[in-house]
Amino acid sequence: MNDITVHGDLAKFLAEQEGKSLLRFLTCGSVDDGKSTLIGRLLYDSKLLFDDHLSALEKDSKKHGTTGGDIDFALLVDGLEAEREQGITIDVAYRFFATEKRRFIVADCPGHEQYTRNMATGASNSELAVILVDARKGVLIQTRRHAYIASLLGIHHVVLAVNKIDLVDFAQDAFDSIVAEFTAFAGGLGFTNLVAIPISARFGDNVIEPSPNTPWYRGPTFLSHLETVDVESALAEKPFRMPVQWVNRPNLDFRGFSGTVVSGRVRKRDRLVVAKSGRESTVKRIVTMDGDLDEAVAGAAVTVVLDDEVDVSRGDVLCEPTARPEVSEQFAAHVLWMTDDEMLPSRQYLLKIGTASVLATVSELKHKIDVNTLDHLAAKTLQLNEVGYVNISTAQPIAFDPYHENRDTGAFILIDRFTNATAGAGMIDFGLRRATNVHWQALTLNKRLRSAIKGQRPAVLWFTGLSGSGKSTIANLVEQKLCGLGRHTYMLDGDNVRHGLNRDLGFTDADRVENIRRVAEASKLFVEAGEIVLVSFISPFRSERRMARELVEQGEFIEIFVDTPLEVCMQRDPKGLYEKARAGEILNFTGIDSPYEAPELADITLRTVESAPDQLALRVVEYLRERGFIL
Ligand code: ADX
Repeated sequence: MNDITVHGDLAKFLAEQEGKSLLRFLTCGSVDDGKSTLIGRLLYDSKLLFDDHLSALEKDSKKHGTTGGDIDFALLVDGLEAEREQGITIDVAYRFFATEKRRFIVADCPGHEQYTRNMATGASNSELAVILVDARKGVLIQTRRHAYIASLLGIHHVVLAVNKIDLVDFAQDAFDSIVAEFTAFAGGLGFTNLVAIPISARFGDNVIEPSPNTPWYRGPTFLSHLETVDVESALAEKPFRMPVQWVNRPNLDFRGFSGTVVSGRVRKRDRLVVAKSGRESTVKRIVTMDGDLDEAVAGAAVTVVLDDEVDVSRGDVLCEPTARPEVSEQFAAHVLWMTDDEMLPSRQYLLKIGTASVLATVSELKHKIDVNTLDHLAAKTLQLNEVGYVNISTAQPIAFDPYHENRDTGAFILIDRFTNATAGAGMIDFGLRRATNVHWQALTLNKRLRSAIKGQRPAVLWFTGLSGSGKSTIANLVEQKLCGLGRHTYMLDGDNVRHGLNRDLGFTDADRVENIRRVAEASKLFVEAGEIVLVSFISPFRSERRMARELVEQGEFIEIFVDTPLEVCMQRDPKGLYEKARAGEILNFTGIDSPYEAPELADITLRTVESAPDQLALRVVEYLRERGFIL
């Protein structure tokens, strides 16, 4: 059961809800802590269940329940059969319920460490976190983890629900010592409002009504706290931000910028600035489906018409001129990794922030954070569910606010360019000034002039293939032939570059990514110099070859796949490395215990088992001639 059906006329019910404020909260803890029981009881006691559901629940309790003949409230929440069988709640489930005072959306997140990403998802749009502990067990490692993730995702309001207080005989000292321990730990996490409540989810103590069993507790009950806690975030009072979703131009007479106001407010005649370009204008109209507005506040979806013809496109952010966001192409951030493929620094991901998308790389992983102890650990990569503190660099500048100031304009996601999966979620800490202090220097000579005097068009001949496939042999022959034709070339060869520029790199995936990033940048410099540069590296990953291609102008990058089957490379074994790799003397050897992703659409494919190196080299030279790189 995913949603709660309500008594009576739905339309009437919804109309009644309109005027009430909305609290979004998440619950962290495991079934063992009584999390599902607590939510189940809230739903049950707030009487927003259909009678059908209740009788089904009573039946289910007898079948699956863990509480004998009583109603097992956990069954209300742990809806899916599969989850019940596993005994844990697996995805984030959102549930809606309402009382007379307020509407609620509760994100129910699993407690185990392998579900950290689910918890982060639930936390990212919640204003309050309920952290459950079992009164008998007290603060556990997972309690710390839950508190940390909640704080990382910008939650300021926490309820520490000390559950199963009945099982410690409603003892005040048990409660007090748990609260003391939690407070000591959470002190550094930036919570502005922490309320601890002794409860029994199973029997209802202090859930809805104050319990006669805990006369020493004078605070609010769980529900009354949720109903009254003031989380009305000052979103509307923050500086105005509106990421532009699209440019609305139905005809030549109308040009408006559509999007949702994520913070602040905007009125007719207000001055606005486009964050990145710095161009200013005045608001002429605020258009909505229901007519024009004089003012739009956070949450409103509007189309803004400006006085002047300023250049604005999707991804731009309209802002208040007196409180602008930062604009930078480098920033420090926390990143939570959400996918099975590890995060590799130097690899390009698509970064989405607001309505903007740019290419981005993690330029430095400073450390990862043990989510259980908050220790900083040295790391080269991030695995699923790990949190790292990183520097990110983007291909174009982006506009943002630090996450702690604005959760909407300070959050981003990283997307894997090949699988399109959401790979990571990030929270921006601050922009790195460095980015804005380094400017492009205009050069008087350009690539065209430099290559014209050499009588050629510059190009990158990128040879990729397994170790021993024949890349270097063919590349050398190509270079000799080009040299014989009086052409200007340079050769970057993996074995050689790894003795100099890249001597600090090994053969882990992360090091290979960085190896190729540097070589791609170096080959771009040679292209700028007007050279035909031959690059001979295994370059096993599609992602980095694509990055190298996109670094130069279209048409300048020629991917040459030296296609030799692994068995043949192993037979040839010119350096005796395959033998060592098979004997376990070399680790992470390409083709043995490290992957090679063959090109899907190489510009040239050379099959070394079919033709001699010299013939294959000639084909490359012919290719260059046909395409006008050389005469
Ligand atoms: S890449 O994968 O990062 O592109 P690169 O082309 O620079 O590799 O270096 C490959 C060369 O390093 C191979 O031709 C081989 O001589 C040597 N080498 C040493 N160890 C390994 C290894 N584990 N895997 C592949 N090549 C290795």
